[in-house]
Amino acid sequence: MCGIIARVGETDDAVDELLVGLENLEYRGYDSAGLAVKNGSGPTVFKREGQISRLKDLLADEVPAGELGIGHTRWSTHGPPTDENAHPHTGCSERVAVVHNGIIENYESLRTELRQRGHEFESDTDTEVIPHLVEEHLASGATPEEAFRMTVRRLSGSYAVAMLVDESDAIYATRSGSPLVVGVRDGKYFLASDVPAFLDFTDEVIYLDDGDVVVVRPGKHEITNLEGRSVERQTKTVDWNPEDAGKGGYDHYMLKEIHEQPTSLRQTLRGRADPVTGDITLEDFPSGTFDGVRRVQLVACGTSYHAGLVGNQFLGSRGVPAQTFLASEYAVSPPPVDDSTLVVGVTQSGETADTLSALRRANAAGARTLAVTNVVGSTAARECDDALFIRAGPEIGVAATKTFSSQVVSLSLLGERIVRDTTGHRSDDVESVLSALSDLPDNVQRILDYTKAHRIAKRYRDSEAYFFIGRGSAFPVALEGALKFKEISYEHAEGFAAGELKHGPLALVTPTTPVFAVFNGRNDEKTLSNVKEVEARGAPVVAVASDENEAVAQYADDVLTIPDTHPDAAGVLANVQLQLLSYHAAELLDRPIDKPRNLAKSVTVE
Ligand code: F6R
Repeated sequence: MCGIIARVGETDDAVDELLVGLENLEYRGYDSAGLAVKNGSGPTVFKREGQISRLKDLLADEVPAGELGIGHTRWSTHGPPTDENAHPHTGCSERVAVVHNGIIENYESLRTELRQRGHEFESDTDTEVIPHLVEEHLASGATPEEAFRMTVRRLSGSYAVAMLVDESDAIYATRSGSPLVVGVRDGKYFLASDVPAFLDFTDEVIYLDDGDVVVVRPGKHEITNLEGRSVERQTKTVDWNPEDAGKGGYDHYMLKEIHEQPTSLRQTLRGRADPVTGDITLEDFPSGTFDGVRRVQLVACGTSYHAGLVGNQFLGSRGVPAQTFLASEYAVSPPPVDDSTLVVGVTQSGETADTLSALRRANAAGARTLAVTNVVGSTAARECDDALFIRAGPEIGVAATKTFSSQVVSLSLLGERIVRDTTGHRSDDVESVLSALSDLPDNVQRILDYTKAHRIAKRYRDSEAYFFIGRGSAFPVALEGALKFKEISYEHAEGFAAGELKHGPLALVTPTTPVFAVFNGRNDEKTLSNVKEVEARGAPVVAVASDENEAVAQYADDVLTIPDTHPDAAGVLANVQLQLLSYHAAELLDRPIDKPRNLAKSVTVE
């Protein structure tokens, strides 16, 4: 959580570029924003509680000139969102300014120690110990780089840190457990929590590893390890463009990203599946890659967990033992694994602390690990034995949308590869599954063209609560529908397995609680019986079902239709309707859709 950015160049417009970077990072947190800039004198700090627009107001009269600067957008972990707790933080002499993402676990003991030596603290944050420690080392004659290294060696926890010092023309940074990437363009450098932060300025990226220390100054950079030994990191060109990361004319990133799904799904599928021959071509996973795998465990959080649930049903229904775990639970009570266990981390960002922790645990216990992620160069991609990229393009809206669809498709393709390697034969229905997956981009486009989700959202806007039900692989879609709905509308929404309603939740069902029932063409009659139970209690039912499902249309009060397709692809289509429903419900309630309260896009704390 939190986003950090830094910029070094020869022109004095650092602040303008830092503000662009901060806006691109705002999805990582929006409790406060700040920056420090330097142009020959000590770092000057500007910071404010609230969104970046408030920081911009502060700078409205005069944008300070400066060649180098650091910036931060905060998601609070230590101390409430206030001006004092906003980053950058400085030490007593204000010679040093620091921005930080992560958690310094030993900050209390460091703080006590520093206080005993006379340091005074202005914030409640864990971060503030860093500039005070650096300051002490500077005072005893260390160079800024030495002072930075000595300080970093004292920190435990997770951190990406960038530092500015008044007597230096460089920015010093490091990472350990929190993301940090370097952007390069013609002697100018950016450091950021992720690539979209500086995509407006460069697509040349250096991915850092944990323990790397990078020093950037105009025209020059140097990467070393903590002991000071030089390390080689290659510069790569990313194929995302700034427009991919902008709003492109939509009111919200979420709506833009929902509408991007035909394109993002094409990217996910490109060159990977041939519905005619049934062939699957997954770059790093040729036939035989998963020989020896006897069971699959998927670990993930939130929306990615729901995609994982769809993935394990795909495998299980084809004879491969598979289970999906909430990563936060897996880390505390891990199931048994051995070297024939494949543990798949499903994570859009590749930086979710809970998922990384579960993967590390699995790895330490001897399992083989694989990341299914959207972010090349992310921690999950680099730490796992293998990585499969979902190729959905940057997702900025806090609510995950297009990446869920691309995760489900990627897990289906990966699943089919695993089925072939472990059982020795193809799935019986592989041609029809691949054909349905290949039709997804056009079918999603159809839904986007004709959806009446807005009308349905309006019809049920004054409801007391919203329930979502489904069976089999429609159950995770019901869970995802409810998560999206509550996350951005702040209305009470719950997802249930359709058959479980009668075991308790039915007590909640009243005429003011609409039930959204997801049908995917498998076990539909049973779900229909549950719909009848709900209707008998007076609740309105909105079915999300194939446009050819006449039985459903007969019983439901309203239908959000999806094109008729294979049950394994129907969930993605149903979910698009539910994404639109949530979006419009939140819009009618005037919610801050891209930045729901208390949430952030990338959850890098456990
Ligand atoms: C919900 C949402 C979150 C994420 C979860 C995992 O809309 O976006 O539930 O799915 O925080 O994030 P990743 O996939 O980055 O590991």
